[in-house]
Amino acid sequence: MNVYDSERISEGLRPLGYETTPSLEAADLIIANTCAIREKAQQKVFSFLGRVSRLKRERPGLIVGVGGCVAQQEGEKLLERVPHLDLVFGTHAVGRLPQMIGQIESKRCRMVDVDMCERIDEPLMPCENEACRPDSGKATGFVTIMQGCDNYCTFCVVPYVRGREMSRRPEDIIREIKALVRSGVREVTLLGQNVNSYGKKEGLCSFSDLLHRVDEIPELLRIRFTTSHPKDLSNDLMDAFRDVDKLCRHIHLPVQSGSDRILRRMNRKYSQKGYLEKVERLRAVCPDIAISSDMIAGFPRETRADFKETLDLMKTVEYDSLFAFKYSDRPNAAAARFPDKIPEDEKLERLQSLLELQAHYTAKKNRAMIGSTERVLVEGLSRKSESIGERHLTSDIWHQWTGRTSTNKIVNFVQGDDSNPILAGQIIPVRIDRALAHSLRGKPLRGEGREAMGNG
Ligand code: 5AD
Ligand code: SF4
Repeated sequence: MNVYDSERISEGLRPLGYETTPSLEAADLIIANTCAIREKAQQKVFSFLGRVSRLKRERPGLIVGVGGCVAQQEGEKLLERVPHLDLVFGTHAVGRLPQMIGQIESKRCRMVDVDMCERIDEPLMPCENEACRPDSGKATGFVTIMQGCDNYCTFCVVPYVRGREMSRRPEDIIREIKALVRSGVREVTLLGQNVNSYGKKEGLCSFSDLLHRVDEIPELLRIRFTTSHPKDLSNDLMDAFRDVDKLCRHIHLPVQSGSDRILRRMNRKYSQKGYLEKVERLRAVCPDIAISSDMIAGFPRETRADFKETLDLMKTVEYDSLFAFKYSDRPNAAAARFPDKIPEDEKLERLQSLLELQAHYTAKKNRAMIGSTERVLVEGLSRKSESIGERHLTSDIWHQWTGRTSTNKIVNFVQGDDSNPILAGQIIPVRIDRALAHSLRGKPLRGEGREAMGNG
């Protein structure tokens, strides 16, 4: 979501003459778009601003702003704490950013805007129209379909910093995706804190209806979405994995804990049994669907027995991948006031157990793919390839490409001696021959194989 917002921020500033610089040192304007989801993310903001203060001392004309969730949460206090800061703008102020920057340029004033919008048709973001999605050269893109969250999980800061849930109109979403497709994007990820409740409050179409409409966009090859709350993952949406052709076979379904007692205290509104039933139904509808999850280790009052239930749930589900975090108190979130916090070393130990167990399943799933042929949407040259600079221009051997399977697994491969050039945005068949800890390696099939596989 922050990647999407950052793109909107830079697009919104382009009409003022700003463009992205290759280094911080070269910039006239530095904006930190921040995340407050966990304590660690928030700490990063302050270390970053420390680095920037040196630049500001050297060049007082430099404009420095902080946006996003930490800005929303701290507001005016950030200006007090960080003397070299010119601007604090919250999660709903991105649309007003160009005006604010204009004022700072002319008046050299300091500004704070953490106002929240009441309706999503107020321009939350600058440039929702097509002219503002220029050719990024990317094969994949994000589109926010809804803002905010009304769920109030007790550990979570999102409802406080992103505000009430609001869905965008389907026609605006479709228009934005079509513009992305015109710029070369072939895979779109629809973003929302809880996509299952898309459009409900506003009486728009359902999320699965939206998926069917996106499915019809010509030249778009793949659709993903995130995130889905298990409590209201509907049968209708599960069926979309069978019925919506372009929908990728992967769902991120954060469980957070395997213990009913903890799930209740987290206000998640589902039980371990209810969650497992949804997993079972998903696999009945789409047998090779990949499932990933988020997990919190050491939520207040989590006993070893509770934690064991989480490990047991992981053994039952066998996730394809997992994001696991140590619980941290967040301002305003109810759990910050819960007694019986778990000591830091115990949280760390539990986190490590989660990661170790998951490494076993990730490796098992990746190994099982060796020998199979996967459709891979090519995203571009892999980072390794970019980091060796111009050498990939002179020798085929350095053409290390990267892409993803429908099940969201990263596949790296080398061009080979095929005369058909590989291009970002194509789906090509790749024979998997190695499984690494977090990615796969393979060989693209030759021309005939590619044609036989078609485009889908
Ligand atoms: N502590 C630890 N992890 C958290 N998350 C959200 N809030 C907290 C917190 N206070 C995790 C959840 C969520 C993911 C985005 O971040 O697992 O799904
Ligand atoms: Fe946070 Fe829960 Fe909303 Fe997700 S559903 S953003 S965890 S409050």
